[in-house]
Amino acid sequence: MNRKKEICSCYHVTKGDIADAVADGATSFKDIKKATKAGKACGKCKKKVKKLTKKLLAD
Ligand code: FES
Repeated sequence: MNRKKEICSCYHVTKGDIADAVADGATSFKDIKKATKAGKACGKCKKKVKKLTKKLLAD
C-alpha cells in the first residue's frame, strides 16, 4: 500500500493516515472523519474514504 497517496485533498489526509485511524479502532466513515478530518470540507472524498475503510477492515 502506498501510504503517501492522498485521499482527501482538502485536509491532505493520506492512505496511511486512514490506515492508522483504522488501526486505532475507527470502523466507519464517521470515525475516520473524527480522527483525520477527511470528509469534513467538500465531502468529495467520502466514497474513497468509505471504500478504503471497508477494505482495511477486511484485511
Ligand atoms: S477532499 Fe476530503 S473533504 Fe474535500
